[in-house]
Amino acid sequence: MSLIEKLQWRAAVKQFDKNKKLSDTQLDSLLSAIQLAPTSLGLQSFKVIVVQDAETRQKLRAAGYNQAQITDASVLFVFASLTKLDEDFGKKFIDLVASQRSIDRVNLEGYEQMVLGTLSSRTDEQKVAWSHKQAYIALGVLVAEAAEIGVDAAPMEGFDAAQFDEILGLTEKGLTTSVIAAVGFRADEDQYSKMIKVRRPKSELFLHV
Ligand SMILES: Cc1cc2nc3c(=O)[nH]c(=O)nc-3n(C[C@H](O)[C@H](O)[C@H](O)COP(=O)(O)O)c2cc1C
Repeated sequence: MSLIEKLQWRAAVKQFDKNKKLSDTQLDSLLSAIQLAPTSLGLQSFKVIVVQDAETRQKLRAAGYNQAQITDASVLFVFASLTKLDEDFGKKFIDLVASQRSIDRVNLEGYEQMVLGTLSSRTDEQKVAWSHKQAYIALGVLVAEAAEIGVDAAPMEGFDAAQFDEILGLTEKGLTTSVIAAVGFRADEDQYSKMIKVRRPKSELFLHV
């Protein structure tokens, strides 16, 4: 199957098979896809909480409009933006670039100034909003990789972020919830994935200039 055929197959499943679990290899492929997603300046200013604990997921479901996907999928991914993107964060990122590319740090001064300048030109609120956007890009890559390996991924923003932050203890970790994805395998009785995919025609979606 081509990627387009796999994207036709994928669906934001509502009913997951509670008994079917991702293999370690499948889970690791999804983590790799998130890790490889592009982000602005390469900063990856988010973390992803991989929630498998049943009790925690029950609490999260209550904070997620009781959506069954939260408890019934094999894994719940909670994308969370960092809330403190300060100079130290920027400098540590440059340290990472220097070490992974084996570059002398002095040769990264221009890059460092760009990173630090970008961070200092935004308010904390703007930086969190910016990080949420980066998290959504990673969500998109996760959804595509899930389709690629024949796994169902249901992206979701129907939840109370403040309650998620509290249940997962994110505030004290310098994080706040961006978006979530329930990942596993569709149940035979899931009706949603059997429905025709509704998409706007290309003639409406694209403007060619
Ligand atoms: C960011 C985002 C948030 C979503 N939130 C929810 C949600 O909370 N609950 C839900 O059932 N579906 C949710 N969806 C699924 C969409 O409704 C679904 O992707 C859309 O209707 C297209 O269907 P398809 O993904 O099956 O092709 C969300 C999708 C995205 C991308």
